[in-house]
Amino acid sequence: MISLKKALSQAKKDKVAVAHFNISEFVTLKACWEAANELSTKNLEQITGSDSSPVLSPKSLVLSRPIPIIIGVSEGEQRFLGTTEAVDLIKHMRKNHDYPIFLNADHHKTLDSCKVAIDAGFDSVIIDAADKPFEENVALTRAVVEYARASKNKRVLVEAEIGYIGAGSEIRDELPEGAAVSEAQLPTAEQVARFVEETGIDLLAPAVGNVHGMLKHSPNPHLFVKKIKEFRKAANVPLVLHGGSGIPDEDFVQAIDAGVRIIHISTELRRAWRSGLEKGLAEHPAEVAPYKLMESALAEIKAVALARLRLFNKL
Ligand code: G3H
Ligand code: ZN
Repeated sequence: MISLKKALSQAKKDKVAVAHFNISEFVTLKACWEAANELSTKNLEQITGSDSSPVLSPKSLVLSRPIPIIIGVSEGEQRFLGTTEAVDLIKHMRKNHDYPIFLNADHHKTLDSCKVAIDAGFDSVIIDAADKPFEENVALTRAVVEYARASKNKRVLVEAEIGYIGAGSEIRDELPEGAAVSEAQLPTAEQVARFVEETGIDLLAPAVGNVHGMLKHSPNPHLFVKKIKEFRKAANVPLVLHGGSGIPDEDFVQAIDAGVRIIHISTELRRAWRSGLEKGLAEHPAEVAPYKLMESALAEIKAVALARLRLFNKL
């Protein structure tokens, strides 16, 4: 089976982005996996709810190779699922289905919590010190990279962030306080180059006008695509776009063309989970079997994942 590193170099060649979906329970995992697997193995016409994206023309295809996906767990999500349970589950799926599904330790805030994920066998870890001063961010990130390189987990990739984009996958009334949303607040290409050079990271998530969470009443702000282009050249490692929920489709397409290779989606999945669950409860007021009640949640999450996978993989 290919490594995450290999999947990303393939994405670069194909000029697409790998979707990163956050989970904290099995229904979301099942929905994302089914969406990716069906998209990889069936004609689009066979897939329910696969309306074509407004920015892409519909196609009928059988792909030559499966579409990779990354499953992410934040520190809280990882605590809820269990570290070894998450690792064993994803490794089992990868082997059993011979499918490129990877596990990322998302937004880990300390060296210790990154160490746990590296030792447990995650495919990647993100040290999130974007809210700290530049030098502190560099020092902490470099410590994680050094630990990863010396560990037995030879495949693990280390990602870090530069520029604060708010915290929490929530539905918001307004943009998160302190987030870098104007061009002047974003990092410079020089800072990006220095950050990558001094830390030795494999992947970089720079602030480019994206924010965590999605706005309740409007799409999220537009991305600064020009900055993505600058950062790609300055960083010379694959770029990751966080806070994917609520970003207009056109911006995703431009961001991918500008060099983004991983896109994180969480709030949209959480919103679909809740709305599907509410629907299930309303339709079956006396039902107590979780797998029956969760059917509509599964369907709603799957539709979100499918739409995002189609867009990010230009299908
Ligand atoms: O790491 C998680 C993400 O960046 C998700 O952001 O909730 O805005 O989709 P989102
Ligand atoms: Zn994120």
